[in-house]
Amino acid sequence: MKIAIYPGSFDPATCGHIDIIERAASVFGKVYVAVIKNPEKKAEFGFEDRMKMLKGATKHLKNVVIDSFSGLLIDYAKKKKASAIIRGLRAVSDFEYEFQMALTNRKMCPEIETIFFMTGSQYAYLSSSMVRQIAKLGGPVSGMVPKNVEKELKKTSPTKA
Ligand code: PNS
Repeated sequence: MKIAIYPGSFDPATCGHIDIIERAASVFGKVYVAVIKNPEKKAEFGFEDRMKMLKGATKHLKNVVIDSFSGLLIDYAKKKKASAIIRGLRAVSDFEYEFQMALTNRKMCPEIETIFFMTGSQYAYLSSSMVRQIAKLGGPVSGMVPKNVEKELKKTSPTKA
């Protein structure tokens, strides 16, 4: 069985992330969605909340496991016996960072391949940071994030008069 890791901050998970998880789950036997625990950049949501939101949004996918990791991604991927790391690509602006990360990971661990999934065109504009900003300002995030994430965001967003 081919195992893949889909790592990220997921702060919070968007519909674009879930689309990639669904497509990865149809290609691989098992997909570990790995939420980074100690990112250099401070996350808005705690990692347990980020995991809870992902679990709620992926419960229909039987071969997807929501997990967390800290330290080097390749160490985690080796521990899980993964043959691939999945990353999503939205625009050319993603490319430089993703290219650098993929080549660095390959240098450290040539046996694990990074595989890029092109974004669903309807999600090409979406990012977690945009979603956070909209929610903080009390704007609508419906259709941008899964329903359970929308509920969590509403808890933190200002109520409109
Ligand atoms: O969703 P993000 O924030 O773009 O995800 C970035 C992530 C978590 C995949 C990346 O920062 C990562 O893999 N961090 C773990 C540390 C590591 O392995 N670094 C070396 C490879 S660049």
